[in-house]
Formats: sequence, structure tokens, C-alpha cells
Amino acid sequence: MPVVRLTGLKRSFSQGGVTIEVLRGIDLDVRKGEIVALLGPSGSGKSTMLQAIGLLEGGFEGRIDIAGTDASSLSGDDRTTLRRDHLGFVYQFHHLLPDFNAAENVILPQLVAGTSQIDARARAEELLSALGLAARLEHRPSQLSGGEQQRVAVARALANRPQLVLADEPTGNLDEATADRVFAEFLKLVREEGSAALVATHNERLAARMDRVLRLHEGLLEPAAP
Ligand SMILES: Nc1ncnc2c1ncn2[C@@H]1O[C@H](COP(=O)(O)OP(=O)(O)O)[C@@H](O)[C@H]1O
Ligand SMILES: [Mg+2]
Repeated sequence: MPVVRLTGLKRSFSQGGVTIEVLRGIDLDVRKGEIVALLGPSGSGKSTMLQAIGLLEGGFEGRIDIAGTDASSLSGDDRTTLRRDHLGFVYQFHHLLPDFNAAENVILPQLVAGTSQIDARARAEELLSALGLAARLEHRPSQLSGGEQQRVAVARALANRPQLVLADEPTGNLDEATADRVFAEFLKLVREEGSAALVATHNERLAARMDRVLRLHEGLLEPAAP
């Protein structure tokens, strides 16, 4: 059973009487533990596709199955639970809670999912240490560098052991050397955790490090040479 299966996924936006078809019928299976790059220039629909899979907004046509459940048939609450239990998110900007320190930012989503405080703390320390942040547990986001902030965001995304991580240009806001390093750590940790990932990027070099590379072109997916 794939971690995510898209069947005929379509999404269009209407603005001022003009309709733009951004996704025109996407079919995709991502297998357990598989790391897939989603390549495409700015405006090709990468974020739109990840948002649909992330069940963050409706408005799409077609079907999205997550871990064997047809998400399109679910109520809002069940969708939230499915998202919480199976998906992790990393965005271009870290979106950490500014008033909480690094450890707390990784602990909170676990508490929401019902993990005990002790277990959540241990998990946060494990993930942050794996990302080289053992000495930054008590730092707030504003006291961290851009690369460190993204590492915390990676730890947060993995905290609840999601089957699928959705990453939207996760290092797109970092300088090239930092992006390379954070990206390598992200891939290593996702592999160790056994999560699958779908990673939007316009960086061909980063894409080539993943298991499979897909390209969004005119609203459809085509395989790209890795
Ligand atoms: N909420 C929205 N309303 C109208 N158009 C949108 C909206 N979101 C995205 N689009 C359009 O969809 C296209 C794809 O956008 P996006 O998914 O952000 O691309 P990418 O992430 O690949 O840069 C763009 O042409 C954009 O203008
Ligand atoms: Mg985008």
C-alpha cells in the first residue's frame, strides 16, 4: 500500500473571470520510505500540489489516499486526525512558534497527538541532537540562525513519526552552503526514520540526491532523469 496515492488530482483557481488549471490530472504513488523530488519552476504548482496532499485546503478534484484512507471522503475532524497521525510538514520559512524554545516547538505537536510529556521531551532531544542542536534546546527561534531554525522545523515535522513528510522548498531560504548541509541532514534523518518524503524544489542538484525525481510541467507530472 502506498503512503500516498493521487488519482486524477486537479486544482484550478478562478480569478477575475479567468480560470487557471494548475494541476490537470495528477496520478502518483509514493511508496513507504521513498524520497521523491518534485521539480518545477516557480509557478508550476508545486506548493498547490503539496497543499492538496497536506489536506490543508479543499477545492481539488480527484482522489487523495493517505496510508490507505481516502481523504476526500473524510469530515474535517477526521482529516485533521489523518494529517496529525501520518503527515509532517516543512516549509520554506520555519513557522516555529516564536515564544517557545526549540525543544518545546518539537514537544508541542507530540502533546497534541497524545504523547506523554516525558516521552515527548525524550523524542525532541533525540531528534534535535541528531541534527546537531543538543546545545540549542532552550533557544528560541529568534536566537537561532536560519539553518538552525530549519533544523528545528525538520525535527518538528518528524516528531510524530509521520509516514510522509511534505517539504516545500525546505532549504530555499538559506545560503547555498547552509542549504546543502541542512538538506543532507534532512535526507539522512528522514531515511533513518523510515519516513517517505515528497520534496518540492527547483534545485536540480538537490533533487538528484533523492530516490526518484518527478517534474511538474503544464499541470502534469513527468519523470525526470535523476
Ligand atoms: N490561492 C490562489 N489563488 C489563485 N491562484 C493561485 C493560488 N495559489 C496558487 N495560485 C496560482 O497557481 C500557480 C501555481 O502556484 P504554486 O503552486 O505556488 O507554484 P510553485 O509552488 O511551483 O511556485 C501560480 O500560477 C499561482 O498564481
Ligand atoms: Mg511554491
